[in-house]
Amino acid sequence: MYYIGIDLGTSAVKLLLTDEKGTILNTVTKAYPISFPHPGWSEQEPADWWNACLEGLDELLEGKDKSAVAAIGTAGQMHGLVALDAEGNVIRPCILWNDGRTAGETEWLNTVIGKDKLSALTGNIAFAGFTAPKLLWMKKNEPENFARIEKIMLPKDYIAYQLTGKHCCDYSDASGMLLLDVEHRCWSQEMLEICGISEAQMPKLYESYEVIGTLKKETAERLGLPESVKVVAGAGDNAAAAVGTGTVGAGTCNISLGTSGTIFIPSERFGKDPFGAIHAFCHADGAYHLMGCMLSAASCNKWLCEDILKTTDLAAEQAGITEEMLGRSHVYFLPYLMGERSPINDADARGTFTGLTMDTTRGDLVLAVLEGVAFAIRDSLEAAKTIGVKVDRSKLCGGGAKSPLWRKIIADVLNIPLDIPEAEEGPGYGAAMLAMVGDGVYESVEACADALVRTRSTVEPDPETAARYEERYQQFRQIYPAMKGLFKSIK
Ligand code: XUL
Repeated sequence: MYYIGIDLGTSAVKLLLTDEKGTILNTVTKAYPISFPHPGWSEQEPADWWNACLEGLDELLEGKDKSAVAAIGTAGQMHGLVALDAEGNVIRPCILWNDGRTAGETEWLNTVIGKDKLSALTGNIAFAGFTAPKLLWMKKNEPENFARIEKIMLPKDYIAYQLTGKHCCDYSDASGMLLLDVEHRCWSQEMLEICGISEAQMPKLYESYEVIGTLKKETAERLGLPESVKVVAGAGDNAAAAVGTGTVGAGTCNISLGTSGTIFIPSERFGKDPFGAIHAFCHADGAYHLMGCMLSAASCNKWLCEDILKTTDLAAEQAGITEEMLGRSHVYFLPYLMGERSPINDADARGTFTGLTMDTTRGDLVLAVLEGVAFAIRDSLEAAKTIGVKVDRSKLCGGGAKSPLWRKIIADVLNIPLDIPEAEEGPGYGAAMLAMVGDGVYESVEACADALVRTRSTVEPDPETAARYEERYQQFRQIYPAMKGLFKSIK
């Protein structure tokens, strides 16, 4: 039988077809635009996602026996607000996870409602990208749109809705709305009231591997698939990536270097960060996890190379950077191109280069960006350490993990070994694995991960480079506090 994983990313949808042994038979990527209508805002059209999915599925299944498709799993960018009216029409473009327009609403939630209360109700404090502040923003700034909302959903759930007609969400993705009581896996009635919405507008909740329904007649006909194809609830892209890299069960960790950068630490029992710097969310295996999320990771490198240096050959830009150069540069980069989430929670933070001199080269800037992202991931790791979490090694996935140089820098900056999984498509592979569990091929997510996930190689840290980076990191840590006040006034 065949299983499909759909990873609805920020720059593109990545689709993947496997058999029940987890062998990847085909992959397709379809890009769509993102708009930045104001500095720090970001939006996408759900119709673009769905059209890309339809085209991508056609391509993925070309020449394949479509009657053998058993189940589909979705994974996707978290936190985005998709609002539908009574006729099922999308009311406005989706406000994405890295949109910072809700700084005011976030501040109101954290100070007037209060971090302690938010944390007691949901396990988390408010961050600008979360869904609840977006609802408050819409209520205040677009009251006519807000009044029309019949259904609230997250990006990947819009795809599941188009596939099945069901309005559903899984616990891992729902955790990022700041509307879920994460510990008890149910909507927080008090949070819904604070945001002026009702449970009737919210999706029905499922575990990630549970089947939410089968294909709608018209979708099945359009795709040439049997109506019996099951669709599982799926997961937020980070939880799905964790599944896809075998990051299930205590003592594991996954770092994802995509548009965002995340460090994902599973736990069997619910636990939260008393400082609120890192998120306490449900995992896709039925348990929990902690996660630090930086808003711009591989996107910083893409921005520098494509938008500023005007090249798409990212590997060529890194070719001149030797291992000998690592940890010796005096050029630093703060990767806050879209503000920052973990651990500083500052939508006004901005990117900066610091330490430039007349002999600074193009290569120094590229290296500073790769290092700045690694240092910012280390910030989240340090936040996790302060609450007693131990991370001795980690998996690494995402587009940025394709760069051998970047892998090396991250291993040295964090001073831990990094395991690179065989299947590079973290979230898409995880989504297909959830579909297999939903279809009964494996009895649990853990059993599926044990059977399918293999490590391709390991990047060991080098003690000397790690020592140099330790010094550099201590300098990097001083840059944001020095700039913080200024960022507020240079909007
Ligand atoms: C996680 C987060 C990002 C998006 C990116 O909290 O906001 O990782 O899910 O797709």
